[in-house]
Order: sequence, then C-alpha cells, then structure tokens
Amino acid sequence: MGYQAKFKVWRGDAEGGDFVDYRVDVEEGEVVLDIMHRLQATQAGDMAVRWNCKAGKCGSCSAEVNGRPRLMCMTRMSTFGEDEEISVAPIRTFPVIRDLVTDVDFNYAKAREVPAFAPPEGVAPGEYRMSQVDVERSQEFRKCIECFLCQNVCHVVRDHEENKEPFSGPRFLMRFAELDMHPLDVRNRKEDAQEEGGLGYCNITKCCTEVCPEHIKITDNALIPMKERVVDRKYDPLVWLGKKIFKR
Ligand code: SF4
Ligand code: F3S
Ligand code: FES
Repeated sequence: MGYQAKFKVWRGDAEGGDFVDYRVDVEEGEVVLDIMHRLQATQAGDMAVRWNCKAGKCGSCSAEVNGRPRLMCMTRMSTFGEDEEISVAPIRTFPVIRDLVTDVDFNYAKAREVPAFAPPEGVAPGEYRMSQVDVERSQEFRKCIECFLCQNVCHVVRDHEENKEPFSGPRFLMRFAELDMHPLDVRNRKEDAQEEGGLGYCNITKCCTEVCPEHIKITDNALIPMKERVVDRKYDPLVWLGKKIFKR
C-alpha cells in the first residue's frame, strides 16, 4: 500500500543552502533513492543526486539519511515509520557541489598517495606464487566499493579539516594494511602507513566499520593489526639496534 512520506532534503551549493520540505508518494518495496528520483520527476527537476547501479555496488549514492551515513539505494523505506520525517543531506566531510552531490576528490588524491604493489625484482607478472591462506587474508578488503562512507564518518577528518593533509582515512589505511599482508610486496608499508597515511591519528573509534555497507571489519581486521605490526617493529630489539648502529 502506498502512502505519502514527509521528507526534508538539503538543497543548495558551495555558497550555502538549507533543508526543503517535500511530501512524496512511496510505493511498497521502495528505497530512499527511488523517492529522490520521484522527487526529481515530479517536484524538483533540478535536484542533483549522484547514483549509478541502484544495487549497492557502485558506491555513488552515499548520503546522510536521518543523520546517518548510508547508501540511498540500500536504505529501504520500510525501515522508517510512515509518519516519520526523513532528512536527506549530502555527506558532510567533503565539499558540496550541489544538493546531494559532493566533491570526493580528496579520496582519489589519497588513493594516488599509496605506492603501487611492489613485487620483488626479477619476478615477472605470471610468476607470482602465493598460498591460498595469504590470498584469503586480504580478500575481505577487496569487497570495498569506494562509497567513502567510512572516510566521511571518521571523526579525524569529519571535524578537523586540518587533518585531511596528514591522514589518509580508513579506506586507504586499509589499502596499506592489505599491501603489508601481501607476501610478495617488498615495500615497507608499516613506515608508509605511519608517515604517509597518518595511522597514528586513528584512535580506533570504529565508526568506519559501523557504516561500511560491505560489512568489512576495517578496524578489527585492517587497522588494529596494522597498528600492532607497527608497534612490534618499533620495539623489536633487532630493529632498534640496527637503527642505533646505522645512525652513528
Ligand atoms: Fe565504503 Fe566500506 Fe569501502 Fe569504506 S571500506 S569505502 S565504507 S565499502
Ligand atoms: Fe577513524 Fe575508523 Fe580509526 S573511524 S579513528 S579510522 S577506527
Ligand atoms: Fe550504486 Fe547506490 S547507486 S551504490
């Protein structure tokens, strides 16, 4: 059975904006993205909304629905009461372009800062050999759809613009961790994660893990083990002795 839902949708651009009230028809089985499309088709033809797959796989339709970072295409209307007022706003950590569309370029810049996979010299593509257990260890991280909801929610950058320079955010710290677990990668990813990625800024609040639509255990399986490996290296007596000798 259809009904009319009360929506507050943020409208505006880089100069500023505000929530605008709408009443929109809802049909059974619909998701928030369907409602945004109906709004465009019937009342707000110029409203900007980014989407692509409508299947939770392209990572384009990230927004804050009732203040919670979510994929609009995976947020069922049935999770809200019919009388509930539902707010839809652009993700907050990145600059607004227009309405629900933000400029997520920060994330692509951070992606470029992660040095590519570095195999040992003399081993050509096609000659790489890994055991299944090593393949499986990082498989989880490869489910990432780059929706950047984790990047948006992490308080290190959400509330501190000044941290955007030194901190890569959970999605790219996870990439450092993935490469560190790769048995053929020869770069010192622990040092990269600390010095390039700002791993020390993460204080394990786990908000990133809570919002990940792919249910990747970013904190428990990538960030905490990476922090442990960094600490092990720092306090490893052999590493310490080596540093002392070579600093002389
Ligand atoms: Fe999105 Fe999860 Fe990937 Fe972060 S780790 S970008 S929340 S899919
Ligand atoms: Fe941020 Fe996730 Fe760490 S939310 S503080 S990167 S555990
Ligand atoms: Fe692709 Fe929502 S439209 S994830």
